[in-house]
Amino acid sequence: MEYVETTQSNTEALVKETLIYPGFYTTSIRKFSNIDTLRFQEVFNTAIANLKSDYTKGDYIRDERFNQSWDHIQGEARELIVKLLEMYCAAEYSGFILYRELSYQLKEENSILSGGFSLMSRDEARHASFLNKALLDFRIKPGLGFLKKEGRKYIFLPFSWFIYSTYLSERISSCYYITIFEHLESHPEYSIYPLFSFYKSWGEDENRHGDFFGAIIKSQSQFSSGLRARLVCKFFLLLIFSMTYLKYQSNDKLLALLGLDAREYYISTIKKVNNSIRKDLPLVLDVEESRFFEKLDICLQHTSENKRINISSQNTLLKLTRKIPHYFSILLVMFQLFTMKSINTKEKK
Ligand SMILES: [Fe+2]
Ligand SMILES: [Fe+2]
Repeated sequence: MEYVETTQSNTEALVKETLIYPGFYTTSIRKFSNIDTLRFQEVFNTAIANLKSDYTKGDYIRDERFNQSWDHIQGEARELIVKLLEMYCAAEYSGFILYRELSYQLKEENSILSGGFSLMSRDEARHASFLNKALLDFRIKPGLGFLKKEGRKYIFLPFSWFIYSTYLSERISSCYYITIFEHLESHPEYSIYPLFSFYKSWGEDENRHGDFFGAIIKSQSQFSSGLRARLVCKFFLLLIFSMTYLKYQSNDKLLALLGLDAREYYISTIKKVNNSIRKDLPLVLDVEESRFFEKLDICLQHTSENKRINISSQNTLLKLTRKIPHYFSILLVMFQLFTMKSINTKEKK
């Protein structure tokens, strides 16, 4: 994150203003408006009724635990917490803007979807606002210039890519929050800042967002049935789980600060996610098969090697030549993973 200015607050404490960079995404509104919500009324009604209930409305209250200075957290621990808050603040604002815009764009075309997205943008705004206040605890003020539409650069995602990536990011973040919450419940000595005690409500909100996308997936035959749907599903699960797992080393210090081993934490989160998506998808991966994570570790070795080549002082052409064999090895491992057995969830129904 880039710090752009420092100001003196009336409490004489230095507050740094930081720029945060939410991603702006869009997809085919026509495909969204064609979703037959009436034919799948029951699943949509359940998902929307749960969103409307707003079960966690009263949970996001900064209680007396926040009424203190956090200046005792210094050095690397402070940097790691600030990095986490900034990263999630950007992600929550990104979700808020995305869902608010989808709600607006679908208002005339599909009022059921529009209503669902509006309720989800309410939750994401609440999460973002909570993180915003948490950053102020660490004397960081996020710049919110991105809330103005001018100058935003949108990334267009094909419909299936959009649905899968958004659906899985909701399910992954839900399991991420709940795993940390449960860990800190049993190891309170690592609970260095009260934000984490809100992760249960937070995870439940994200899970309800996942349920709404689950209803969309069930209503679309190209996602829910047939050989093509299963292949597409397997492809996205493998891609998104791999991308999630490959990030574990970059978060190892933060997770260690909370008393968690990064690799174990990511494996446990991915297993939980894989279990939670059975009800929505035509298949899930066999992540209990020990070779699954062993193969991802091989990919990780190759990506680490490429990172090392990237920071070397060699010229660009030589770097590329050295990186190509690693890219091929990663592709080969991904192909092997793709051919591994998966679990067909429809057979049980
Ligand atoms: Fe959120
Ligand atoms: Fe969400």
